[in-house]
Amino acid sequence: MINEKVLKALNEQVGKEIFSSYLYLSMASYFDSIDLLGFGKWMKVQAREELGHAMKIYEFIYERGGRVELPAIEKPQSNWESPLKAFEAAYNHERFITESINKIYSLAKEENDYATQEFLNWFVKEQVEEEAQTELILKKLQKLQDSPTALYMLDKEAGSRE
Ligand code: FEO
Repeated sequence: MINEKVLKALNEQVGKEIFSSYLYLSMASYFDSIDLLGFGKWMKVQAREELGHAMKIYEFIYERGGRVELPAIEKPQSNWESPLKAFEAAYNHERFITESINKIYSLAKEENDYATQEFLNWFVKEQVEEEAQTELILKKLQKLQDSPTALYMLDKEAGSRE
């Protein structure tokens, strides 16, 4: 049987991952609306990945004999000042998610919940990747200096994400 405090934190994390998906879909919609379809596609792929993260935790909760209770999902922001601002927000969001995973890891450690620690190792590694890939695009956008040609090329590159 899963520890109650850990279960509560995991349930909240399911909500955070679903919100991440919602936020990235909102960013996809922003990019599609300004005809940056490559970034739009990148964000849609990201939104799907986040749903996958939520489901991974969902299945783990049941494997451990817990009960999933979905929290309310808030409305995501729908507009950003620029592609740069959107990716800044995405990067900050990933850092927030990393922090959240780390907190659950610490809690599982305090509660001697070894199974959850082992399970969360995947998420710890995944967050390294998630932060890095978002930061890479952010850094490239910071270097564009308002060049429409460079933005077009970066949009094309982002659109090759599968
Ligand atoms: Fe599921 Fe991007 O963190």
